[in-house]
Amino acid sequence: MSAAPHVDTFNIVHPQDYAEKGYPHDSWTWMRANDPVFRWEAGEGIPFWCITKHEDVTLIGRDPARFVSGPRLTISHEPEVDIGDMFPPTLIQMDNPNHSTYRKLINKRFTPGAMRRYDHDIETIAAEIVEKLLAQGEEGECDFVESVSAPLPIAVIAWMLGLPKPDWPLLFDWTNRIIGAADPDYQDEGSNASETAQTAITELFGYFTQLVEEKRKNPSEDLVSLFTQMEIEGKKLEFMDIMAWCLIIVVAGNETTRNATTGGMLAFIQNQDQLRSLQADETLMKPAIEEVVRWTSPIIHFARTATEDYELRGKQIKEGDAVALFYGSANRDEDVFDEPFQFRINRWPNRHLGFGIGEHFCLGAHVARLEMEAAYRHFLPRLAEVELAGPVDRLHSSLVGGVKRLPIRYRLA
Ligand code: HEM
Repeated sequence: MSAAPHVDTFNIVHPQDYAEKGYPHDSWTWMRANDPVFRWEAGEGIPFWCITKHEDVTLIGRDPARFVSGPRLTISHEPEVDIGDMFPPTLIQMDNPNHSTYRKLINKRFTPGAMRRYDHDIETIAAEIVEKLLAQGEEGECDFVESVSAPLPIAVIAWMLGLPKPDWPLLFDWTNRIIGAADPDYQDEGSNASETAQTAITELFGYFTQLVEEKRKNPSEDLVSLFTQMEIEGKKLEFMDIMAWCLIIVVAGNETTRNATTGGMLAFIQNQDQLRSLQADETLMKPAIEEVVRWTSPIIHFARTATEDYELRGKQIKEGDAVALFYGSANRDEDVFDEPFQFRINRWPNRHLGFGIGEHFCLGAHVARLEMEAAYRHFLPRLAEVELAGPVDRLHSSLVGGVKRLPIRYRLA
């Protein structure tokens, strides 16, 4: 077996390495081929197992009793900080029996059938955002993140939660500081990443405390009203549980969709034949969206912790060990995808794991698909030409593969 490449030059959980170099596809490809359950011991963070094959991510994702989410959902390049009981666990950090009880409370709101009543509104929000950009003239330059892919999920999530429109931009700042806490552009002055995220969460709770009070008095169809009405065994949720719901929807629904939409735009710029195919045949939109999620894999990793000793591909995972599920690696697995390093919008079936797998499968997958579809349907067919107008500026994060700025230049048809 040849030695693992890049262990010294790319720390697989270091935010800065992702900002400077993008995804470590060379390391992941090497691991899949030579050591798919690779023991990572470099850096100051805890040692952990890198799970890089599609089959193994699936196996672990589908075994929530043996691999739990509660102890840690991400792995840091720094020594672990114990924030104790400071914040209540959100859905994504829960294990059974709580997870299934809480997930049932909301599942029905997010099924494709239930979402049908939102289709029109998501379409209207996307149309408004794209038309505002296109109204600037036949030729233009913009930061695609600022103009399209950031405002769209912010608007949709804020509207679903029931925030008054003037407050929508608040979500932008909070999610940047929670998800992008390690990024110098978003970090609070004089604070480290963990302090920045904690301050932003506290501010978010302050805001939602007031909104919850208002929705209790004047409930409507929105999600915050639903959170105030939910019951478990005949009892309404505790106040902090309601806060946890607000937090997870805000945090999970924004940066992910933003970066899938941005990364997809970049892929279309770099693969103009695929852009032309989609412009010529709108029926390719659905497979194209799945390919964008596979290609971008916006969530780099989530972690699980083993509840018992377990042997995987000859490696002895011990009780209490951390495993990192690298979705970006699973989504380039040569055993599952034909030509995985080709961006092909007609790829079908597309068994990507971009939305996760198993009990924690993304609650908002359908919302995200609708948003991306609407944005692309309004923007892409109008383009006669499109190119990069400057460097791609990436986020410091080993959780979300983020793009902070995507400068593009275009001419409309
Ligand atoms: C392209 C966009 C998105 C991607 C790539 C994505 C990715 C993921 C992934 C990988 C997970 C699995 C977590 C795990 O296994 O531990 C997840 C869970 C989750 N996502 Fe998404 N997500 C996206 C959009 C959204 C949106 C728009 C929402 C909300 C409206 C959302 C809400 C959630 C929630 C609440 C969970 C936790 C589910 C649970 O623990 O049962 N996501 N997402």
